[in-house]
Amino acid sequence: MTTATAGKGLEGIVAANSGICWIDGDAGVLAYRGMDIHELAEHSTFEETTYLLWNGKLPTAPQLEEFKKHLAAARRIDVRVIDLLRSLPTTGTPMEVLRTAVSALSFYDSDEYDNTHEGNVRKGNRLTSQIAMIVAIYDRLRKGKNIIEADPSLSHAANFLWMLNGERPSETATKTLDIALILHADHELNASTFAARVIAATLSDIHSAITGAIGALKGPLHGGANEAVMRLLYDIDKTGKEPVEYVKDLIAKKQKIMGFGHRVYKTEDPRATHLRRMSEQLSRDSGQHKWYDWSRAIELYINSEKKLNANVDFYSASTYTMLGIDVDLFTPIFAVSRIAGWTAHVIEQLDDNRLIRPRAEYIGPGYPNHWVPVENR
Ligand SMILES: CC(C)(COP(=O)(O)OP(=O)(O)OC[C@H]1O[C@@H](n2cnc3c(N)ncnc32)[C@H](O)[C@@H]1OP(=O)(O)O)[C@@H](O)C(=O)NCCC(=O)NCCS
Repeated sequence: MTTATAGKGLEGIVAANSGICWIDGDAGVLAYRGMDIHELAEHSTFEETTYLLWNGKLPTAPQLEEFKKHLAAARRIDVRVIDLLRSLPTTGTPMEVLRTAVSALSFYDSDEYDNTHEGNVRKGNRLTSQIAMIVAIYDRLRKGKNIIEADPSLSHAANFLWMLNGERPSETATKTLDIALILHADHELNASTFAARVIAATLSDIHSAITGAIGALKGPLHGGANEAVMRLLYDIDKTGKEPVEYVKDLIAKKQKIMGFGHRVYKTEDPRATHLRRMSEQLSRDSGQHKWYDWSRAIELYINSEKKLNANVDFYSASTYTMLGIDVDLFTPIFAVSRIAGWTAHVIEQLDDNRLIRPRAEYIGPGYPNHWVPVENR
């Protein structure tokens, strides 16, 4: 078989057939199962979108009710995983904790060794509920607070906020988070999803695939960028510098501005459109104007100066901050949503599996490069 050499970072390489997510990077289109993200953000819920990603079509009303019941019933975590969370250092970042806890969940999953389509749907169901719980529970434990029992009457987004804060979330907070979860649910062969598919394709298990995906998501070039954006805004606040001047300095030092640029989108990331709108709305509702105003000023400057657009992470930062969420929970919240897409991709991979094993272009010392006794080196 002939082999072609891929460009650095596999740019432009099509590495799988997939019926889950379609992106037109030039036109700024993102669609799940052919459905435009703008329609889903306006009309759908995270639960319905997850059903769509996993099953290829929207649920009927009874199917949706049943799916929501399954997710609510899956809000259970073995006490030994809670003990593990208690034993981890409070200095650990929530992403490290999530990576470790998701790996440990497999020991207590009754379907641990069932790698069938149905087994993975059941495990995906549990993981979707459990990842949200782990993030909320660990945050409370590290702050010395009690664990809040899950409430099966609440939606996925509302239950997460309830377990995080121990207070009934407002309609605005629930709706804002629900839309953010829809927007983050899938994104074709992004780095973490590709990692999940590579692991699944070895016929390892879904917990391993999701653990690997969480590791990939954690990096600042991927999901970690939303935290980096907020740290930049906090730095601006601390130094008292004018936001655009601050960013100009970073550009002059050849630093990347987190939350801008994208490998696939050459125009506005359609997810950013909604996050910008929600950030602006929250800023008006809460009277906390600076995070949105500074973000907007930076965006306009980077647009005109660097011709780069804001991506999904840029306005997530100010949106989550105005919802009262701690910075180091932003990337875990990305995982709370992306588990929907990871599961869809693991299942799709295994439905028509072949080991993913590319080649490397060898650029090392010439062959044969003979071994030399240590005294002669
Ligand atoms: C997303 C990202 C990793 C895509 O990377 P990529 O396709 O490999 O693109 P590159 O990093 O090669 O960037 C291409 C050029 O644009 C510049 N660029 C890209 N993103 C930039 C940013 N956020 N700030 C400043 N310059 C940026 C690069 O410096 C490079 O310029 P050069 O050709 O003069 O060296 C990149 O845009 C980035 O690092 N963004 C910040 C992190 C981020 O927000 N990640 C979340 C993505 S959803």
